[in-house]
Amino acid sequence: MTQHVKTEVAGGIMTMTLARPEKKNALSNEMYSAMSEGLERAEKDPAVRVVLFQGDGDSFTSGNDITDFSAQANGSNIGESQAFRFIRNLGKATRPLVAAVQGNAVGVGTTMLLHCDLVFLADTAKLMTPFVNLALVPEAASSWLLPARIGHVRAYAMFALGQPLDAAAALACGLANAVVPAADLRARAWQAAEALTKRPAGSLSHTKALMREMDKIAAQTNRESALFAERLQTGEAREAFAAFAERRKPDFTNLTSD
Ligand code: COA
Repeated sequence: MTQHVKTEVAGGIMTMTLARPEKKNALSNEMYSAMSEGLERAEKDPAVRVVLFQGDGDSFTSGNDITDFSAQANGSNIGESQAFRFIRNLGKATRPLVAAVQGNAVGVGTTMLLHCDLVFLADTAKLMTPFVNLALVPEAASSWLLPARIGHVRAYAMFALGQPLDAAAALACGLANAVVPAADLRARAWQAAEALTKRPAGSLSHTKALMREMDKIAAQTNRESALFAERLQTGEAREAFAAFAERRKPDFTNLTSD
């Protein structure tokens, strides 16, 4: 099988590269599993001091693979949800997480950035969390973390209307450290990750823990996940996924709330 997440460790940095550019790095269950394994290894392996996420192609990631959502909505068993495992691991990570983001960062592509400690955006970056357009609810504790970071109304517009944030807007509202030309993105993120490898690892992980309410993140993630799983089974969600497959706009007007 083609490896859609490339994991490499060098110089104290674990780089996880999303490598499914033909699908805009849409995240399959296998990809979530590979990223979860990476995060689990990073917590235990002293050779890993920092984790760096990046994506091949013109998009960081288009988020969860919608064909997997669709399969779940239609009752297929795609195995244990690795997305939840990944999200749980992100929430409790103690190693510094760095992200290099170009182009589209959709759904978890944006919500995972709320768990990263340094975020670099290419000038092409576009952050989107169109959960309601897909008849779903926010995940990865973003229903709490995003409004806390950027304010309720901006977060609501992103969740409910699918309003994107371009790189400059994301920088202005504190979701990123810097916006750089796309050609410089990886070097800039690597440089930052390298600087972290030189800092005392114990001090870094305690500092991170002090800055994040991990219990609250875990509790919110659990609440969201229960609702998310419920929403996946609705007629609204089936309509949203069918519309994506058929490349048309969804029509929710004849559906009552379920
Ligand atoms: N799941 C599954 N396949 C996806 C995908 C996703 N999340 N995002 C993109 N793809 C696929 C497309 O179906 C297309 O496949 P095809 O070439 O076999 O037809 C391919 O990737 C390229 O995508 P395309 O839509 O043609 O690229 P684009 O540049 O016009 O648009 C996006 C890029 C990301 C804006 C658009 O693909 C999109 O909105 N994707 C869905 C995002 C989403 O809602 N994710 C879930 C969040 S919870």
